[in-house]
Amino acid sequence: MKGLGFAAHGGPERVGWVDIPRPEPGPGEVRVRVRAAAFNRLDRFVLEGIPGVPIELPHVFGSDAAGVVDAVGEDVSDVPLGTEVLVNPALWDGTCEYCLKGQESLCRNLRILGEHTQGSATELVVVPRRNVHSKPSGWSWAQAAAAPLVFQTAWRALRTVGELRPGETVAVIGAGGAVAPAAVQIAHRLGGRVAVVGRNAAKVERAVALGAEAGLVVSAERSHDRLLWDWTKKRGVDVIFDSVGAETVPRSLRALARGGRLVVIGATEGPDVELDLRTLFWRQGSIRGSTMASRAEFDQVYAELAQGHLVPVVDSEWEWEKGVDAFRRLGAPDVFGKVVLRTSVSDVGT
Ligand SMILES: NC(=O)c1ccc[n+]([C@@H]2O[C@H](COP(=O)([O-])OP(=O)(O)OC[C@H]3O[C@@H](n4cnc5c(N)ncnc54)[C@H](OP(=O)(O)O)[C@@H]3O)[C@@H](O)[C@H]2O)c1
Ligand SMILES: [Zn+2]
Repeated sequence: MKGLGFAAHGGPERVGWVDIPRPEPGPGEVRVRVRAAAFNRLDRFVLEGIPGVPIELPHVFGSDAAGVVDAVGEDVSDVPLGTEVLVNPALWDGTCEYCLKGQESLCRNLRILGEHTQGSATELVVVPRRNVHSKPSGWSWAQAAAAPLVFQTAWRALRTVGELRPGETVAVIGAGGAVAPAAVQIAHRLGGRVAVVGRNAAKVERAVALGAEAGLVVSAERSHDRLLWDWTKKRGVDVIFDSVGAETVPRSLRALARGGRLVVIGATEGPDVELDLRTLFWRQGSIRGSTMASRAEFDQVYAELAQGHLVPVVDSEWEWEKGVDAFRRLGAPDVFGKVVLRTSVSDVGT
């Protein structure tokens, strides 16, 4: 079957249609006929090649998917064929010491759909039964595909790892992209006083509308730590959500309040940083990492989404034939929210 992906690592010029085998569901698995798939920054990293993560070529993009269950493994009896679902792309083994404690995102064998396996930008995808959840009623396929990866990531990072409490200040570094619009909504929903920091005033304005009380635009003269310091009247920020990495983390540390938590979920602009440890111990802050979410955390954020407290943000929807253009959109400077690819099925988008 056809999928959008690449046959050799490299840049965007490598992106195109590839052929991969049709998957069959094994024990405990379901097969989903994909109606919409969504991209993440991760897909660009996979295309370039991630050190230490060997992948099978050709490779198909996509961690997020929504679609219809069209086949099940012989021991799966609780999902009727035709069920409309969204797919949780976190693939854990369920047997290691962490999974047995309900800490699936720490799984020793954690894999992500589309990174360690073939992805969702294709016709059919097979995942464990426990990874499919009913598509909330009234949602479009695009909304359902836009939600799973970014909302679970921001939920765990802010609520569990960041320990964000009502009334605390929280800063989301980056205004656009895929994760930031989810993080702003979750920080607000958890009762935080939210500032969103970005480089592009128009995107910052859009992010503020999702629940921030302040939108701060960085410039050569006004770095984000200075802006946050002013915003908090020199107190510092309780929780900082940073996915940019080398370019921002040292300054984020400087903007922390006493006892503050700097939660790092990504390193888009590079992984190596130099930190002033004196700031860390004097403020008694902490730097914490977070990835994806546990099964229970996914259920929590899914319930928030299904009840309408959180809303998936779709940047754009693309027809299947425009897949290569859709992938290019992922790197556009004005991208805000998720880039979604419809599949070739004619009733997509209803
Ligand atoms: N650990 C996990 O489970 C997990 C899950 C999801 C994503 N991630 C990682 O998180 C990162 C973000 O992913 P994404 O999908 O949202 O896409 P992305 O395209 O990497 O996000 C771009 C965001 O980074 C901001 N940004 C980049 N350079 C900046 C700088 N110098 N100063 C301020 N902001 C800057 C952009 O801000 P502007 O809006 O101002 O341009 C934009 O909001 C990626 O590295 C991804 O791999 C990790
Ligand atoms: Zn495990």
